[in-house]
Amino acid sequence: MQRTHHCAQLTKANLGATVSLAGWVDSIRDHGGIIFVDLRDREGVTQVKFDSALRAQAAHLKDESVIAVTGKVEPRPADMVNRSLPTGEVEIDATTLVVHNISDTPPFPLTDAGGDRVNEDLRLTYRYLDLRRPKMRRNLAVRHRATKSVRDYFDAQGFYEIETPALFKSTPEGAREYLVPSRIHPGQFYALSQSPQQFKQILMVAGVEKYFQIARCFRDEDLRADRQMEFTQIDVEVSFIDREGIYALFEGMLRKVWKDVLNHDLPTPFPRLTYKDAMNRYGVDKPDTRFAMELVDFSELFKTSGFKVFASTVAAHGAVKALNAKGLADITQGETTALEEVAKSLGAKGLAFIKVENGEWKSPIVKFFSDAEKAELTKRLNIENGDIIFFAAAPWERACAILGRTRLEAAQLLVKRGKLSIRADQWNFLWVVDFPLMSYDEERGSYAATHHPFTAPVPEDAGLLDSDPKAVRGQHYDVVLNGMELGGGSIRIHQPALQKKVFEDVLKIPADVVESRFGYLLKAFTYGAPPHGGIAFGLDRMCALLCGTTSIRDVIAFPKTQKAQDLMAQSPTPVTAKQLKELHISTVVPPQ
Ligand code: AMO
Ligand code: AMP
Repeated sequence: MQRTHHCAQLTKANLGATVSLAGWVDSIRDHGGIIFVDLRDREGVTQVKFDSALRAQAAHLKDESVIAVTGKVEPRPADMVNRSLPTGEVEIDATTLVVHNISDTPPFPLTDAGGDRVNEDLRLTYRYLDLRRPKMRRNLAVRHRATKSVRDYFDAQGFYEIETPALFKSTPEGAREYLVPSRIHPGQFYALSQSPQQFKQILMVAGVEKYFQIARCFRDEDLRADRQMEFTQIDVEVSFIDREGIYALFEGMLRKVWKDVLNHDLPTPFPRLTYKDAMNRYGVDKPDTRFAMELVDFSELFKTSGFKVFASTVAAHGAVKALNAKGLADITQGETTALEEVAKSLGAKGLAFIKVENGEWKSPIVKFFSDAEKAELTKRLNIENGDIIFFAAAPWERACAILGRTRLEAAQLLVKRGKLSIRADQWNFLWVVDFPLMSYDEERGSYAATHHPFTAPVPEDAGLLDSDPKAVRGQHYDVVLNGMELGGGSIRIHQPALQKKVFEDVLKIPADVVESRFGYLLKAFTYGAPPHGGIAFGLDRMCALLCGTTSIRDVIAFPKTQKAQDLMAQSPTPVTAKQLKELHISTVVPPQ
């Protein structure tokens, strides 16, 4: 039996027609003489009525069984019309029923609410059932549309989509890698590609000029809501382009995706924020600007304060910063303890706070403040009754980070109390620019590339590479949306001498190691490398935001758990001794 329609298609316009539908039994109701089945396929639901001869057969059906029916489209009785369904005014009076498969009872209800109530591990074990839920079907559809929109955009802009190898060579300076043993070369390994970075730069040397790829990337990272071990990038590289060119190109892509998927017109250009300003105002390089609660710097004010903790921090070239969580003076003891714990996990010595209740400042540290200090705090933090002020005194970057986290946590507490609303459908895109090219790694006692070692310095800072690498800004940019880093990239170094200098003189990688790891890239640059730059976007993160979910697992058909397992197919698994022997591998499993 061929189906003539899908299950979201039939309306009063089809009355009297004989049609065939196929799908799953969404629900079954026995009304005495008549059985009603809601028949569901990918597109929606249609009500099917079984009476007379088919009634007995239909009575054996169970939820999620797969059937096909033929019958006549009839109007529903007036009191049975369902206005919330596109097919809610009609039903099929079945004359033929084919039962393809009877289903066992699913381990959880396949409704949105039913799935949301159960443990995610159960959903992942039965992912094929989880994906039948309306919400998950919608997420798959959104991801498809977003990906198609991206492909159409770059095609229209003259880009080639080019696949690069997943089996690459080990480059230990990035994230931790997945190694793949070579059978043919005993003792040697490939690494799964962390990103197509080096290949896409080589493609620019090859004269491709405009490259993009929907690229699978592999990183052995600790998994979180926004991180998977394999994930997908919208990866782009362009020759003869500068930062402004990249901003315009990507704003165009995002405008098209938001229009195609959500029918929403994104305003462009996006605001830009330097790394310094982002840290100073929001305490993080990926600020959520949907709410204010900005950090204020009081280092100057507390230079000579009677509160020694603050004065000594400033004397040691640190910073004293504060924020006003408006209306949160009713915070509980448990909540402040939790905030302090978070602050301490970021290296805070303490998280001083002042509650303002009944016109009175309540805090053990208030007695150290002069009237002038209080007046300045009141003015710059707009302190009113019911507010709570948090302080961090620490080295600048740490003070920013501590209050940046406090800001996010305090916002959640205010949301919980209904005193702040943060909308999931407000799209605060921004570019964060002027990152430091290098950061100093205290533990290793050396510089590390903030983004990656291929990023070019801002031209006017290049002279400082030898004398003060920390002061050099990189031509790096991140796209941030509502507190999530969606993408990042840079204008690259294309001169072999400068690239070699960054590897050897700044990052202090020994010359022979540079040669063995990056020799091929440096060599390629000696044959006419064009200036180039690019960016990579987390497709999973973008789709999660488009779908209004905070977990990228909800927009990946078959994700791994936080423990890096596939609960459905059950991987990873041990392999046979024969397989290991063939790969010249022996394993040492630590005792549990
Ligand atoms: P980067 O490492 O910043 O840059 O990655 C770019 C974007 O990829 C996404 N992303 C992830 N998504 C899910 N799970 C992960 N484990 C994960 N790691 C990264 C993020 C991130 O912004 N080659 C460079 C880009 C370039 O310079 O062109 C790169 O990979 O959304
Ligand atoms: P103390 O004088 O050490 O008892 O600290 C008084 C208050 O200041 C306590 O609430 C501490 O949590 C807080 N505090 C101590 N050190 C810092 C710091 N570096 N930054 C912010 N608050 C601090």
